[in-house]
Amino acid sequence: MTTYFITGVNKGIGKSLVELLTKDSNNLVIGTVRNEAKAQELLSLKLENLKLIYIDMADNVTKFKEQFKALESYAPNGVDVFIQNAAIVDPDTMKHSTLCDTDYFSTVFDVNVTGTVRAYQAIYPYLFKGNGTKKMVFIGSISGIIGEPSAGGNAYGLSKAAVHRFGTQVAKENRNSQDPLINQSVTLIIHPGVVETTMHNDSSRKALTEIGASYITTDDSARKLLKIINENGIERSGTLFDEEGEILPW
Ligand SMILES: NC(=O)c1ccc[n+]([C@@H]2O[C@H](COP(=O)([O-])OP(=O)(O)OC[C@H]3O[C@@H](n4cnc5c(N)ncnc54)[C@H](OP(=O)(O)O)[C@@H]3O)[C@@H](O)[C@H]2O)c1
Repeated sequence: MTTYFITGVNKGIGKSLVELLTKDSNNLVIGTVRNEAKAQELLSLKLENLKLIYIDMADNVTKFKEQFKALESYAPNGVDVFIQNAAIVDPDTMKHSTLCDTDYFSTVFDVNVTGTVRAYQAIYPYLFKGNGTKKMVFIGSISGIIGEPSAGGNAYGLSKAAVHRFGTQVAKENRNSQDPLINQSVTLIIHPGVVETTMHNDSSRKALTEIGASYITTDDSARKLLKIINENGIERSGTLFDEEGEILPW
């Protein structure tokens, strides 16, 4: 039995990951959704190997830890793969940096960056429990590449650069642990492709078309993500990948 824990599963790439993984009865998927109203579509599928936890990524860490206590019974042998997927984008991500509305920044950072750290803190005791190679995946974005960004920026791009940085920090901390369960764990940071989801608005679609980007479906993205997760081990911990498994520059 492999236990996956994925944030933000009610739609988009997260939902496709759930649909793919639950097809295999050897997998247990625990997903987070903001609230029960948002979970109706998933609940109607009545999937035996799917459990849901209700958390808003902007909730405080105490609430995270409280909600994640459900893992004591859902995952008595611990979580094997943690995928930090939930995020938001601001409508101004494609605007010139002198024109973007800075009022969005704190909301985007709170969900994408602080929310990522809160989720990691809350999952940590359940991840490093049991045995096997534990894997952590932080969903990043080409928007967060510092060297030569090709798409978007502002609050979203900056938040994803921070997520990439956090992933490298976690990889290093865990590599230096004395505990073999922790120092053999694998941290991967993955751009999931340019994916057809509600993350894109008219201006991002226009800008992405201009740079020749083509969209993939959420199912394709989920399949590619799982391939990268399965194929990469400790020697690649702390690496940033694109959806094809190619290593991206920071
Ligand atoms: N689509 C792309 O082209 C693309 C490219 C690069 C990276 N990514 C990354 O891929 C990941 C998945 O994105 P997606 O394209 O699948 O987007 P999506 O369809 O908008 O899904 C985002 C998920 O995050 C959840 N979420 C957002 N804010 C939340 C909050 N405050 N509390 C709880 N859940 C929250 C959403 O739930 P609600 O429905 O409740 O908001 C939803 O389940 C994100 O990390 C994104 O940055 C996407």
